[in-house]
Amino acid sequence: MPTLSFSDASLRDVTADVLLLPLLEGGEDAPATVPGSPEISEVIAGLGASASRGDLHRIPSFGLVAASSLLLVGVGDEDLAEVSDEDLRLAFGAASRSLTGVEHAALALPTGTAPQRAAAVEGAALGAYAFTAHKTGTGASAPKPALDRITLLSDGDAEAAQSALDRSAVLAEVLDIVRDLVNTPPNLLHPAEFARRAEELVADLPLSVTVLDEQQLTEGGYGGIVGVGQGSTRPPRLVRLEYAPASATTSVALVGKGITFDTGGISLKPAAGMDDMTSDMTGAATVLAATIGAARMGLDVKVSTYLALAENMPGGGAQRPGDVVTMRNGKTVEVLNTDAEGRMVMADALVDAVAEDPDLVMDVATLTGAAVVALGKRTAGVMGTEQARDLVMSAASTTGEPFWPLPFPAELRADLTGRVADLRNIGDRPGGALSAGIFLKEFVGETEWAHLDIAGPGYASAPLGYMGKGATGMSARTVLQVLEDVAAR
Ligand code: BES
Ligand code: MN
Ligand code: ZN
Repeated sequence: MPTLSFSDASLRDVTADVLLLPLLEGGEDAPATVPGSPEISEVIAGLGASASRGDLHRIPSFGLVAASSLLLVGVGDEDLAEVSDEDLRLAFGAASRSLTGVEHAALALPTGTAPQRAAAVEGAALGAYAFTAHKTGTGASAPKPALDRITLLSDGDAEAAQSALDRSAVLAEVLDIVRDLVNTPPNLLHPAEFARRAEELVADLPLSVTVLDEQQLTEGGYGGIVGVGQGSTRPPRLVRLEYAPASATTSVALVGKGITFDTGGISLKPAAGMDDMTSDMTGAATVLAATIGAARMGLDVKVSTYLALAENMPGGGAQRPGDVVTMRNGKTVEVLNTDAEGRMVMADALVDAVAEDPDLVMDVATLTGAAVVALGKRTAGVMGTEQARDLVMSAASTTGEPFWPLPFPAELRADLTGRVADLRNIGDRPGGALSAGIFLKEFVGETEWAHLDIAGPGYASAPLGYMGKGATGMSARTVLQVLEDVAAR
């Protein structure tokens, strides 16, 4: 994570390896401009530089400013006032992502508002991430580290600038936790190791952790988690974290899907793209990181967080299609497809979450391929009670992360009724994301509840803005925003 600070130095005087500046479209054959700097605008006028969103131009500064080079960041508009905070995050995130191997960047948003400056520096902080843990190169072949230090030029209120930077630093830490966990290859991150890392990550924070092992899960009647985990030599875990500030008057329970690898089990997935299933624990990483963010921000809300961890493997002990398991709440389920494992582990954890009687339960899961088909690779689906769903949509409009509400069509429920047990774990193919949500609903009851299906946006095959290839961290900022919103009421 880069170090963030601010400076009241002028554009001309700030020292850095590179100075990041927005580039506005010129319109009608006019050249692109840097707002608030006629000098730089004049020098670059002859370049014919395009200022579409995401365009980057890195040029020597030729003594124009003290920084060694300029990075002009296209924002895709003629008027900075028209550019949304999230578009600034994406643009400046792409800019900082391009600066691997660079030590220190300064960033200025002349004529921008304080929230726009905060968004730009936040994007740059989020973009300064590289997963190099398993690259062994040294010397010239050493992996280039991410940008190390960002200085925001800000001549306004120092206290406001500092609190915006502090917030960005927490968000960058939260996303780094998600991305490091998700990017860790599946041989190295199995359920017990995930639990150990969770304990390690919260060691210095006011958070308590309890871990149930496979024996305790069996004795506790967590048939969903045990069933999914039994095909692996690396047994399942259920982690519960608690952040309970004495002054909190509201409470939220979070539940995350933590399948450290999803082969599909005996209902084996096809080989092509199966490696992406290293990301099937993104929900668990997300709720863990958001809980850490809540503690770092000192939010006035109690948070209980459940990580439902298992490896879905087709080993000799694996569950068979047709097996009947008894879930944590006593309901029985026919496991007709062992690849519909997410809902099995989530259901058990949801039962515990709901039993605490929190004001809100929120779950995050890479639950269905159908959600990707419905909403694409960038947008997450949100289902749940009306109030909880609106809470998520409202938080998402604050963070700028793309979410879209999905319905609970009543007619899909019938497909989930079991032949020999209470329920079956799959419905008909059409509306697959919806039947998964309807299945979970059976374990939630009347509690206010939101279900976030991040199967598409959690893991990327192409970089975008502050998100590189692989883990994106998408949804963590919105989950944390919901916690902030609930804390404030
Ligand atoms: N982990 C997958 C869902 C998924 C698919 C996440 C693609 C990210 C990208 C989940 O466990 C799964 O396999 N779901 C099945 C459910 C089906 C068997 C009812 C699916 O979506 O095909
Ligand atoms: Mn699966
Ligand atoms: Zn899965």
